Amino acid sequence: MLNTTMTSTKPPILQVRELVRAFGGIIAVHAFSLDVYPGSIHGLIGPNGAGKTTTFNVISGFYAPSSGQVIYLGEDVSGRATSALAELGLIRTFQGTTLFHELSVLDNVRLGCHRSAKAGLVKRILGRDRTTEAAADRKARDILELFGLQDQADELAANLPHGHQRALGMAVALAADPKLMLLDEPFTGMNPEETRRMIELVRLVRDEHSVTIMLIEHDMQAVMGLCETITVMNFGTLLAEGTSEEVRTNPAVIEAYLGSAVDAA
Ligand SMILES: Nc1ncnc2c1ncn2[C@@H]1O[C@H](COP(=O)(O)OP(=O)(O)OP(=O)(O)O)[C@@H](O)[C@H]1O
Ligand SMILES: [Mg+2]
Repeated sequence: MLNTTMTSTKPPILQVRELVRAFGGIIAVHAFSLDVYPGSIHGLIGPNGAGKTTTFNVISGFYAPSSGQVIYLGEDVSGRATSALAELGLIRTFQGTTLFHELSVLDNVRLGCHRSAKAGLVKRILGRDRTTEAAADRKARDILELFGLQDQADELAANLPHGHQRALGMAVALAADPKLMLLDEPFTGMNPEETRRMIELVRLVRDEHSVTIMLIEHDMQAVMGLCETITVMNFGTLLAEGTSEEVRTNPAVIEAYLGSAVDAA
């Protein structure tokens, strides 16, 4: 399908080819294909149970594909472990928060710095190796500043308000030096102000760190305002793809998913 962004001349950073993922008798993803271009913010939307999270799980190595391919940076990485993909800069966040609640905000981001490192032992990361520790500390503080969380560095992650926890989750992901970041419902449970702030952060991460962003989200206003390309899934397959304008006016999309949500956006 035609990609109308400025980045369309470069080869895709991610290609999903005829992806199938079944769970017993349930086919969660069925012959689904997708291209994501470098430097873009690419939305993946669709009704509940459409197969969006499963697609992320396969792309990021949490599940092996039943068939089909995931090509990342031109290389077939289908079925590779999440840790191997993280080392290549493919990092995902989860539909809920996955922070270490009993650790400080700063330590969460410091751990993120080592998510892609081979020697990933917590005790080594948080204290034993002085040089590594100092570098991680500097980097983590820079990231916290970028995210406006520097004053909360020593707070326990558990004590942050929900919106800040989600921002921290993205800060942790950024610490791992992603080239492609997969965000699953980054705005869920946020109030409008928190959502606005998170949208700014997603743009900032793309613009300042050259990270390509792919995100799943049900908040249509956020998706339409943020994503240059939107892919719509339904029943595990591709329903439509295009700019927000193309998607929001597509009759099949309106019927399957958007309905009144599009009027609100
Ligand atoms: N581990 C699993 N075992 C069995 N079935 C699963 C598993 N993961 C997902 N499914 C099923 O696959 C289908 C797609 O689920 P998925 O979580 O990918 O949807 P989604 O598009 O992310 O939905 P939502 O918008 O509600 O998050 C659903 O029918 C779901 O029940
Ligand atoms: Mg989901």
